[in-house]
Amino acid sequence: MSKAEMPFPSVLITGSGSYLPEKVLTNHDLAKMMDTDDEWIRQRTGISQRHIVGDDELTSDMAVHAAHRALEMAGLTASDMDGIIVATTTPDDTFPSTAATVQRKLGASQAFAFDVQAVCAGFIYALDVADAMIKSGKAKKIVVIGAEAFSRILDWNDRSTAVLFGDGAGAVILEASDQAKGWGILSSVIFTDGRFRDILYVDGGPARGKVGTVKMNGQDVFKHAVEKLASGLDQAIKQSGLQENDIDWLVPHQANVRIINYLQKKLKMPDEKVVRTVSRHANTSAASIPLAFDEAMRENRIQNGDVVAFEGIGGGLAWGASIVRIGKPA
Ligand code: ACO
Repeated sequence: MSKAEMPFPSVLITGSGSYLPEKVLTNHDLAKMMDTDDEWIRQRTGISQRHIVGDDELTSDMAVHAAHRALEMAGLTASDMDGIIVATTTPDDTFPSTAATVQRKLGASQAFAFDVQAVCAGFIYALDVADAMIKSGKAKKIVVIGAEAFSRILDWNDRSTAVLFGDGAGAVILEASDQAKGWGILSSVIFTDGRFRDILYVDGGPARGKVGTVKMNGQDVFKHAVEKLASGLDQAIKQSGLQENDIDWLVPHQANVRIINYLQKKLKMPDEKVVRTVSRHANTSAASIPLAFDEAMRENRIQNGDVVAFEGIGGGLAWGASIVRIGKPA
């Protein structure tokens, strides 16, 4: 059989890992810094606390911790990796990519490494890119990491955005398999609509000579989030060949508990099948999905063979969803 005739391999998720910085900032702490209160934040968002990166800690440091833990779960080492993809909006530097630094820190000398920038949809985008690279035969093993030091791009005088975000990292290991039909990434869809770039953006970057801080029209983002996540999920489910009731777990982007509840209702999923970490992590942007996923994996809630729906949306607007059968056949 020629390479062109070979069936696509399955792309399995065989390990996960995550990392949260030590420092915790509660809503009560924030109330001492700005005109807000615990009740407002919890009622509107479901958030009670968030982790904040240490002064000397970098996005790449958090990414490396998460990757080590994911490699350990998969029973692999950094030198087994063909590629490293880091989804981040808060890179260590403008360049080189944070992924290149992660490659050096991990000692993954065989791996190509690059960043993907799709803000809160970054993990879904990075997973999609890695899936395509493995299916096309360019790589067999890729670590996909979502890592963010979002606290560094917040305006701590703007209560409408500062209370929403947190820092952290999550990672998954993807492996090609020719013997696992129906397992791994069953579908993945990504979308962008640049017409809405101005409802969620950072007022900084090389052209502006400053790093900048997050600006957001919260109500518009909310409206687009529920509508676009619902249609993205529909398409991902259709493409997977499964039905809504085949989904065992919803692992959504953790932006706001009200958005999560809306999607839960849409999928008619019971409470215990929706992974929620937003109360403790807040919105960690590209890190939020792999962080939530890893927590559920390590608590043995998500089991080998379970079908998980991931979905996320962020600045761009960029959004997407994927359906994955976790683990590998026994
Ligand atoms: N504490 C106390 N009061 C506040 C705060 C705060 N932290 N922030 C805003 N307010 C006040 C406002 O000033 C306003 O006061 P006013 O009525 O006197 O003018 C009032 O609360 C209501 O403000 P709204 O913006 O209308 O509040 P809303 O109910 O829309 O909730 C929120 C705001 C939580 C941001 C909501 O719009 C939302 O969740 N949007 C989605 C945005 C999101 O999740 N973004 C994350 C990035 S994108 C993503 O990850 C999906």
